[in-house]
Amino acid sequence: MKTEKLSPQLDKNAIKTAADLILAGEVVGIPTETVYGLAANALNGAAVAKIFAAKGRPQDNPLIVHIADFEQIFDLCPAVPASAKLLADAFWPGPLTMIVPKGSIIPIEVSAGLNTVGVRLPAHPIARDLIRTAGVPLAAPSANTSGRPSTTTAEHVLRDMDGKIAAILDGGACGVGVESTVISLVGEKPRLLRPGGVTLEQLETVLGEVEVDRALYEKIGDDIRVSAPGMKYRHYAPKAPVTVVRGTPEASAAYIAAHAQAGDGVLCFDECVSTFPTCVTEPFGRSDDLPAQAREVFDRLRAFDDTAVNAIWAQCPSDDGLGLAVANRIKKAAGFHVIEL
Ligand code: TXA
Ligand code: MG
Repeated sequence: MKTEKLSPQLDKNAIKTAADLILAGEVVGIPTETVYGLAANALNGAAVAKIFAAKGRPQDNPLIVHIADFEQIFDLCPAVPASAKLLADAFWPGPLTMIVPKGSIIPIEVSAGLNTVGVRLPAHPIARDLIRTAGVPLAAPSANTSGRPSTTTAEHVLRDMDGKIAAILDGGACGVGVESTVISLVGEKPRLLRPGGVTLEQLETVLGEVEVDRALYEKIGDDIRVSAPGMKYRHYAPKAPVTVVRGTPEASAAYIAAHAQAGDGVLCFDECVSTFPTCVTEPFGRSDDLPAQAREVFDRLRAFDDTAVNAIWAQCPSDDGLGLAVANRIKKAAGFHVIEL
């Protein structure tokens, strides 16, 4: 199939064209404030199945459903927890996905057999305009081939999806750069399943105590049932193997400089680039600029695939604030191969 490039900035019919494709059961790449998504009508199981085919996504990994206005959550969820309203008031529209009980309107292709559904109200104007124009909620995972780094520009999406989806809406580069925070509201206590643009500290100011899923910190084997099925797969991975070195920026830079071979890749803080003169460096922001690191991390990881590096070393922020999300993505890219200094 030919993938149509739609630019809402240049073409006032772009959103309508995309909405018509969605209603015809097709898959469209869309910008959100976190990463690009691969969107289909969330109420049409056959359309949602096309997303899994385009991504090569395991069938047991459920999708997030995107809405444009808070009230739409009542169509998807029979019993909206009180905490969902509190979180929505604080963080929606924005990079937060809430796992809530699933209504029977949600096809099994979306929920992958679970009795819950992830719901998100994105802040990106193109995403919300599309949801309203189509008049249906949109199921959308990140718009990358399964296992590859998420996509933060329309060019990334085309690189993975050209010929596999009906169209891509170009909304420029994504502002946040890492995927939404995922919090489960179906257990006894709220539980953080994936760190993202809304930080753990921010969630705690609204909810009090929040449990943190162990899949954030360690590799989960195939035999173990995890709360967010997506957390168990190797993810965000460039083609060369990645080793993360954690410590102060100075200590991790010195360790990598001492251990890297000439020609290895280094994902590094901006101020450390000159420490690795014989390596292929991809700076992803200053060590004190977490928003820049979140915006850059996937783009820089992807950039190594255009080089001949055999091994990649990575510096990594600490777990405070947005650092938890950035560090989680880097550790997952490394299959949790981490050297703690
Ligand atoms: O920022 C984002 O969330 C992006 C944009 C497009 O909205 N979407 C995204 O979707 O990252 P995806 O499919 O790449 O990641 C969704 C994560 C997966 O780890 C999945 O297992 C988990 O959320 N998830 C989805 N529904 C769930 C459910 N009902 N229960 C537990 N985890 C769920
Ligand atoms: Mg994903």
